[in-house]
Amino acid sequence: MKVLVVGSGGREHALVWKLASSPHVTELACAPGNAGTSGVFLRSGNLATNVPIAADSLEALRDYAVHHRIDLTVVGPDNPLALGIVDLFQAAGLRIWGPNRRAAQFEYSKAFSQDFMLRHQIPTARSGVFTDAAAARRFVAELEGRCAVKADGLALGKGVLLTHSISEAEKTVDDMLLRGSFGQAGSRIVIQELLEGIEISLHALCDGKTAHLFPTAQDHKRISDGDQGLNTGGMGAYSPAPFLDDATLNQVGRAILDPWLAGCASEGIDFRGLLYPGVMLTANGPKVLEFNARFGDPETQAYLPRLENDLVEILSASIDGTLDQTPLRWSPMACLCVVIASEGYPGSSPKGRPIHGLNDLLNQPQLQVFHAGTTCKDGEVVTAGGRVLGVTAWAPTLQKAQEAAYNACDKICFDGMQFRRDIGAKGLRY
Ligand code: AMP
Ligand code: GLY
Repeated sequence: MKVLVVGSGGREHALVWKLASSPHVTELACAPGNAGTSGVFLRSGNLATNVPIAADSLEALRDYAVHHRIDLTVVGPDNPLALGIVDLFQAAGLRIWGPNRRAAQFEYSKAFSQDFMLRHQIPTARSGVFTDAAAARRFVAELEGRCAVKADGLALGKGVLLTHSISEAEKTVDDMLLRGSFGQAGSRIVIQELLEGIEISLHALCDGKTAHLFPTAQDHKRISDGDQGLNTGGMGAYSPAPFLDDATLNQVGRAILDPWLAGCASEGIDFRGLLYPGVMLTANGPKVLEFNARFGDPETQAYLPRLENDLVEILSASIDGTLDQTPLRWSPMACLCVVIASEGYPGSSPKGRPIHGLNDLLNQPQLQVFHAGTTCKDGEVVTAGGRVLGVTAWAPTLQKAQEAAYNACDKICFDGMQFRRDIGAKGLRY
């Protein structure tokens, strides 16, 4: 079958890499892809190709899929989902994996998600949704200024500010609601109490009725070692995270997923895709910080090498509503991904810097360098974005996976590259 992956990050390279190992896939394209996605060999011996269409050019993607008779489109990023790519493809009779626009609200409206959690008793932080600055100020005073203030809409991972005093919280509220610092995305805000604990990522593959929980993973959101500095899209991830044993993970997962599934059913939301709750393990139990409606990046790079199922088969089951007959199988290996970013990230970063050392890391066992912000220029791989590579290794233990990933990082070189040296350290210390 012919498969199209939409997106261009490390997540999408990992999806392409995993799909390429499926005997069902005879042709594979990625739009727009990166320097990694175009170099992946399929089982048939064909190479995956890039298609120069942006992930949010929905009509152009649909026309491509119609014209090339794509049998399955797999959507990576949040933006096309929020714009309704699934509804558009379905209206053209195309098969596509991901939540429809209504179901993707869990991703693109934090206010919707927060109200939904309150309506359906899903464990979350004490919170409120506000458009009125005076009411928001009263709530932050109740929380004594210890808040997470969140713009409602998509804000490229930058729409969340953590505050520790009333004056700081009031200023943040005024910036968002009165001064429009996040534009339309911040005209409605969610305020949560500031939670303390260990943060983990949950993922569950859903088909509208069944939600299959993945093993745990942990992302590292801050730019610098020891969780210091600015928030980023994610600087590295590993799976499994040791903070929950299997039985507790299952309990935590069901405490979130069962009311979520029942809530979706009662509200007529047909969610076929990936639900990714960000969860804080607090002294008072697990609390959902937010829902995403897509695979995490970089979590996907740490998950897919462990997935033993054929990805086409489980995504098909998610579309067809047959996940109850399709259990997920995971390798017991630990997998760890270190993100290498450009100089200046998470601020603006220079492009076009040649990347050295990649060829020596090709075809290594239990090691895969996933590309994110890369492109090919005059036969050379150069940087093209903030997060550039996801150096991923898997091994019987977390420590061995960490060693292998960092050994590989040390063989890669480009001007201004930066990466954290402590991915996995919290898990190893635990
Ligand atoms: P979100 O996009 O809502 O997941 O928020 C981005 C990051 O902000 C999360 O990954 C957490 O590290 C942090 N965060 C969000 N909400 C809270 C909260 N209520 N308490 C503490 N930290 C939070
Ligand atoms: N791992 C962060 C994200 O995918 O949003």
